[in-house]
Amino acid sequence: MKPRVFVSRFIPDAGLSLLEKKVSLKVWEGDRPPGKEDLLREAALSDGMIVIPGDPVDREVLAAGHSLKVISSYAVGYDSIDVKAATELGILVTNTPDVLTEATADLAFGLLLAAARRIAEGDRLVRSGGWNQWGPRFMLGKDVSGATLGIVGMGRIGHAVGRRARAFGMEIVYSSRRRDETAEKELGARFLELEALLLVSDFVSLHCPLTPATMGLIGERQLRSMKADSILINTSRGAVVSEEALVRALKEKWIAGAALDVFESEPLPGGHPFMQLDNVVLCPHLGSATIRTRDRMAVLAAENLLAAIEGRIPAHVVNPEVLSRN
Ligand code: GLV
Repeated sequence: MKPRVFVSRFIPDAGLSLLEKKVSLKVWEGDRPPGKEDLLREAALSDGMIVIPGDPVDREVLAAGHSLKVISSYAVGYDSIDVKAATELGILVTNTPDVLTEATADLAFGLLLAAARRIAEGDRLVRSGGWNQWGPRFMLGKDVSGATLGIVGMGRIGHAVGRRARAFGMEIVYSSRRRDETAEKELGARFLELEALLLVSDFVSLHCPLTPATMGLIGERQLRSMKADSILINTSRGAVVSEEALVRALKEKWIAGAALDVFESEPLPGGHPFMQLDNVVLCPHLGSATIRTRDRMAVLAAENLLAAIEGRIPAHVVNPEVLSRN
């Protein structure tokens, strides 16, 4: 009998067609995302699952999967998967790094430019018929070249953002769990503790994963310590920032602006205070959303899953402890 695989959304055909050849495939077709009950039911029937950020793959779901060998994250982030429980239960967790690095860095830099040069705000003004002048003082933004970019989390995406920043003539400082010689040599990036980075940066871009250590990393104290004309960019995970503090920071002008692709709760609930603010650019979690990148993620997520099911070592394993135990 073919192994049974559940995929929690229609991923691009490039991935589905790889799976179809080898497994009995069930793709979630509901018009709402699968909830906990749905995942519990599917886990109980599946040998492998492909899930997306936000799917609640908790201990209970994992424990329901008596023949479950692998959870393949269709994403680089895996904060909504209980990896500790998966490891205890001998279930591999895989993810899709590398293939989405450049697309995500492009979006982060796009957000930086949009916030600095007030592009989204300008678009709203033109559409509303409010553009009535070209003025020497009209809609002035913030220079990017010559500014200092603080990169929080110098991983793959942090590096890629750093390369773009260099090309735009920015100075780069970074904070990370450890010093990064390549970033220092190739990007001229200067290592600083987070507190010091926030004090000197004109732009702060977040590229750390969401973990217990980074949850709420940027809160009231951190936002108050940033320059009054600085801009915060977040393409990592919403919960790395305290949204409640950020709303106050933007309203009370502790900082000049923000550009966000990720939120504590997604989709961003209607009537959220961010929607009333002109100094924040809002994007619906599009970091990796290009045709080629999503195709590559689909292939990688499918290959990771098939390798695990067929007893081979997947290219990107989050909990390799499981491999050494088998
Ligand atoms: C998307 O959010 C990802 O983690 O890849």
